[in-house]
Amino acid sequence: MHPMLNIAVRASRAAGKVISRAFEQHDKVEVELKGTNDVVTNVDVAAEQAIIETIRKSYPKHTIISEEAGVLKGEDDDYQWIIDPLDGTTNFVKGIPHFAVSIALKVKGKLDQAVVFDPIRGDLFTASRGKGAQLNGFRIRVKQPKELTGAILATGFPFKKKQHIDAYFNIVKTLFVKTSDMRRAGSAALDLAYVASGRVDGFFEIGLKPWDTAAGELLVIEAGGLVTDFTGGHNHMQSGNIVASSTRLLKEILKDIRPHLGESLSK
Ligand code: IPD
Ligand code: CA
Ligand code: CA
Repeated sequence: MHPMLNIAVRASRAAGKVISRAFEQHDKVEVELKGTNDVVTNVDVAAEQAIIETIRKSYPKHTIISEEAGVLKGEDDDYQWIIDPLDGTTNFVKGIPHFAVSIALKVKGKLDQAVVFDPIRGDLFTASRGKGAQLNGFRIRVKQPKELTGAILATGFPFKKKQHIDAYFNIVKTLFVKTSDMRRAGSAALDLAYVASGRVDGFFEIGLKPWDTAAGELLVIEAGGLVTDFTGGHNHMQSGNIVASSTRLLKEILKDIRPHLGESLSK
C-alpha cells in the first residue's frame, strides 16, 4: 500500500472509532445548525481532529482542507488533503446507520489517494492513482450496463439549494421513467463508493463540495468509471454538480440531464 494511503486509512479508522462510539451514545451528541438545513455536531469536529492529528504526525508540512476546520495551509502546498470527517451528518443525527469518513490526497492538483470508510459496516474503500480501487482489499469495478433500463441510480436532493428544485425534479422525472429505481441514501461519499463497487450504476447530485466528492471521484475513476459535471466537462469540483457512472451510461444520463439545465447548472 502507498505510504500516504496507509496514513489516510489509519486516519479514517481513528475517525471511524470516534464516530461509531458516539453513535452508540446518541443522546450525548451536540447538534448545531450551521446553515439552512445544514447541521454539524461535536462528533464531526472530534473525528476531524483525529484525522488531522494522524496526518500531521506523518506529514506536518502538507496542506489540509477540511469541511469544519477550513484551509490549514502547509509549507508544502503541492500536497493537499481534502477531508470530510463525517459525510452523512443528518443520517448520523437521526440514528440512521449510513455515513462515512472521506479522505483524499491531491498531489500537484491531481487526485492521488482516496479512502471512504463506513465505520458501521466496516466497508473500507481505497484507491491509489493508476493502481485501481479496492473494497476491504478486494478489487472493485464500476458496473457496465448497456442502457438505463434496469439501472439503479443514486442521487441526493438539493436540500441546501432549493432554488434548483424544478430543474432537479425534472431531471429525476426524465431519468426515473427509464431506470429501474433510484436511491437517496444521504452520503455522497458512499454514493460514489457504491458506483465504484457496482452497488449502484450511477450517481448525480447538485451543489456538492470538494470534500464530499474528492475521495469518491478517485474511487470511481480507478474502478473504471467516469466523473463529470452536468455538461460532460470537468468543472464538477468547482460547481459541485456531479455525475458518475460507466462511460457508456454517463452519456445516457447526460442526454437526459441536458434539456433541463438553466444557465446556473450548465457548468
Ligand atoms: C452531505 C451528504 C449528502 C448530500 C449533501 C452533503 P454532510 O454531506 O453527502 O448526501 O446530499 O449535499 O452536504 O453535510 O453530511 O457532510
Ligand atoms: Ca459531506
Ligand atoms: Ca461532513
